[in-house]
Amino acid sequence: MKTCVISFPDTPHAPATLPEGANLSETLTVMNSPMLFGCRAGICGTCLIQVEDGYERLVPPTAEEQEALEVYAPGNPKARLGCQMRLTVDVAIKKIRSA
Ligand code: FES
Repeated sequence: MKTCVISFPDTPHAPATLPEGANLSETLTVMNSPMLFGCRAGICGTCLIQVEDGYERLVPPTAEEQEALEVYAPGNPKARLGCQMRLTVDVAIKKIRSA
């Protein structure tokens, strides 16, 4: 099975190796990542992240995710909702606060 590595620069968390296509909200926890999840449905914005490396190679956000990103991270072209993103390439992410 192909795997992808998700890293968390500037945090004490070690990079995590996950199966390709992994749903982050099902595979990451407070123990293995700095990410937090709330609704897991693309609504609350708790899982807002900035993809520092690998953004361009990810599957683009759906219209629904894009709509939420315009509310939670207006003007940030590298923002994603972790719960809506499928891990298909290696990425480095940072948790960001919503606007
Ligand atoms: S956990 Fe609510 S938007 Fe991702």
